Amino acid sequence: MPRSIVTIDDLSNDELEQVFVIADDILARMADPARPYRIRGRAKLAEDQILSTLFFEPSTRTRFSFESAMERLGGGVISSPNSAATSAAKGESIADTVRVVENYADVIVMRHPAEGAARVAADYACVPVINAGDGSHEHPTQTLCDLYTLHKERGMKSLADFSGLNIVLYGDLKHGRTVHSLVFALARLRACIILVPVKGLELPEHVTRRLQRDYDCVAAMPEKPSPGRDLPVDMIYVTPKGPHQQTIYGFLDAPAELKNVLSDIHVFYVTRLQTERGTDASGRGAYQKIDNEFMKKKSYKDSRVMHPLPRVGELGYDLDDDPRGVYFKQAAYGVTVRMALLTWLLDLTKTGTPPAARECELPEYCHKDGIQCNNPACVTRLATEQQYIEKEFWIVEQKDSIVLRCMYCEYEYTIACVGRVSKREYSTDPAQLKVTPRNDRILFAQVQDAVNAGYTSSAESAALP
Ligand code: CP
Repeated sequence: MPRSIVTIDDLSNDELEQVFVIADDILARMADPARPYRIRGRAKLAEDQILSTLFFEPSTRTRFSFESAMERLGGGVISSPNSAATSAAKGESIADTVRVVENYADVIVMRHPAEGAARVAADYACVPVINAGDGSHEHPTQTLCDLYTLHKERGMKSLADFSGLNIVLYGDLKHGRTVHSLVFALARLRACIILVPVKGLELPEHVTRRLQRDYDCVAAMPEKPSPGRDLPVDMIYVTPKGPHQQTIYGFLDAPAELKNVLSDIHVFYVTRLQTERGTDASGRGAYQKIDNEFMKKKSYKDSRVMHPLPRVGELGYDLDDDPRGVYFKQAAYGVTVRMALLTWLLDLTKTGTPPAARECELPEYCHKDGIQCNNPACVTRLATEQQYIEKEFWIVEQKDSIVLRCMYCEYEYTIACVGRVSKREYSTDPAQLKVTPRNDRILFAQVQDAVNAGYTSSAESAALP
């Protein structure tokens, strides 16, 4: 199985570094001297390669920059004007689509509204699949553009320099897939992440849980509003073992420290309201616009304003000529960084060792009954895909409690009871997970679900005469 890029965790820090080295090399050879963030010309590295873009949602930057990247590398592109022009419109499944397209192309770049759709494609295709955005889940190559832009703008020498970064993530943090990939990468790179969501559009719970569990982040909630603050900070995440250790405890003990960090913002990462995912646009009025007026605070004179774009009112056009507004460079670097990713993923420099698939080390759980992913946007809920996708989960916690993560959309579920199929009994003791044979166990999110499925409590059975 080839390496696919479905989430940002599909690239280790070393691999991110390798991609950035390739990107720097591409810029050194192919940058437009008039605009050194723009690529011009065409190389011959990918003459024997074809890229297919399968986009089931609109896109300007991701699709065109991927297509431009492959063209600039000397390869070819096959695409479709829109998803209605593919056989998906006739009900063809994702698995069948990619098992056909893999014969026509050497790499598939897919965007889809269902969360986990890229995982399904990667599971079935024999060529690498790159997730170009799957619903609200992730958009890992946007994060590559974001990190690379920061690397260039801040003159970083290595990824270790991210640990000194204070970055505000602002806007629709609930549905923004660019934010979800970025927040995991920033946490892994030990940046200080300051969350400023529009009210009601906070990061999803499964994301905040992962920040704390998987990335060692400490959450510091400002205890009382600090007068004079410009943005209503929701939460600050930092890594406890990183250089922010003093600062985080400073936040908790001394609000003045928090104020200092809030003045020392290196980056404002702004996102729009994702109305296509059900976000109510009526909240837009309360959405603080990031513009020249907002940025005139003295302490923001060296800050940068980023945005994955498109913008729809949350970012002033008056910042376009301000050197702190770097969002068009960010979009331009999309070509460079995607050229670098394709070069690395397809081993275009012929090192002889293309990256192998990465295996997840977490234990798996799969059963046709019991717990189901109830995220309505999960790919497992689509009628076209339900015919063949198994309800699969990773077991992410199994000590004091049992927590499962859907392998597709990555929503997490706390399990209330472990059932034993052969005895039709359930127990609420998490320790039962380890002692129940894998082929005899069934997990339920709620006790009532076990009861409804005809299971009785093992404690009750033990009490029977
Ligand atoms: N940033 C981004 O994903 O833009 P598009 O939707 O235009 O691809």
